[in-house]
Amino acid sequence: MNDFKPGLEGVVAVETEIGEPDRDGGVLRYRGVDITELVGHYPYERVWGLLVDNDLDSEMPAPEPYEPARLTGNAPSDLQAETARFSAVWKLGKLNEISDEQAREDLGRISAQMMGIVARSARIADGHTDEVPASVVAQGRTAAEKFLLQWRGEADAKAVRAIDTYWICTAEHGLNASTFAARIVASTGADCGAALSSAVGALSGPLHGGAPAYVKPMLEEVAAMGDPDKWVRDTLDSGKRIMGFGHRIYRAEDPRSRILKETARELGSPQIEIAERLEEVALAELERRKPDRPLKTNVEYYSAIVLDVAQIPPPLAPAMFACSRVAGWSAHILEQKRTGRLFRPSARYVGPGARTLSPV
Ligand code: COA
Repeated sequence: MNDFKPGLEGVVAVETEIGEPDRDGGVLRYRGVDITELVGHYPYERVWGLLVDNDLDSEMPAPEPYEPARLTGNAPSDLQAETARFSAVWKLGKLNEISDEQAREDLGRISAQMMGIVARSARIADGHTDEVPASVVAQGRTAAEKFLLQWRGEADAKAVRAIDTYWICTAEHGLNASTFAARIVASTGADCGAALSSAVGALSGPLHGGAPAYVKPMLEEVAAMGDPDKWVRDTLDSGKRIMGFGHRIYRAEDPRSRILKETARELGSPQIEIAERLEEVALAELERRKPDRPLKTNVEYYSAIVLDVAQIPPPLAPAMFACSRVAGWSAHILEQKRTGRLFRPSARYVGPGARTLSPV
């Protein structure tokens, strides 16, 4: 077997009609629509409808009343646990036993609730012990407004725009690690809560969804040192990676990074200056050191800056990413359900040959 590809790089594992990252053109399309046509024109919940139902007039529902178990204030972990808990609380049916319509309904109510869980967990992390009344949350006109109301009891317009833009830009991206995890679990016929909570776990790692959590402290460190050139050289000399650069798919500039950078500028981000300076230096040095491997700015870099406008604390970044990706995950879970095919790849055994127990 000579076809082993570490990390499955380049291996086509599914066919999809949902999202198309165009690696050479630097464009990202949802169901054929360039995301630049969506940002600022449709709120996130309608983009959810486009991805899941292929219909911009459809949308993610508003969250229903729900009582979570004991939230800790660690949002990524609260979200993973609570999402798994929906299976029991709502008695969700197994994907191989329910209709596509039922699965779509389950995904809608879970998606909406996942945002509520993150908002409530963030409120606890802020030191609040009370909940914002449901009547206040219901006044939010969009999912981003409702999210902020449930978290802080108020929804600043700049913060709403920052979050809505970020959520739309990161709502779907083909077969990344978390989406693959969701599809693998869905392929076993497990329920939607199980599939989505697995995706949340996969997203919590710094190589996938956790990078923005490292970008803000990195920028603070660079600003404090006052010498981005030296910082970049020292970091690379010590074998470390610069967070927010490099991508498995894009060799050109990541289109999401472009949109997020513009948004950060328009919203008057206090970090935009140092971010652009570090970007310039890092790109030049990465190109010098790795001329054969284009390492460009990825979505996480300017995501961190935009999320900072909304005063999202860095540890919340993976959970914010999960809020946006519920759209892509939900669409992929439905698409996977329709294929009805269980994932079962192979492993090539490279361990010791048959041996007796005594030398072990
Ligand atoms: N900073 C410095 N060097 C980097 C780098 C970065 N951000 N990203 C990749 N490289 C280097 C690697 O060290 C490797 O060098 P080597 O061949 O000398 O060992 C080479 O580029 C290829 O790296 P590889 O891990 O094979 O690339 P990948 O396509 O598998 O990785 C990422 C993609 C995103 C995981 C990777 O670029 C990374 O770790 N980036 C930083 C974390 C991040 O921003 N994550 C958010 C992803 S959206």
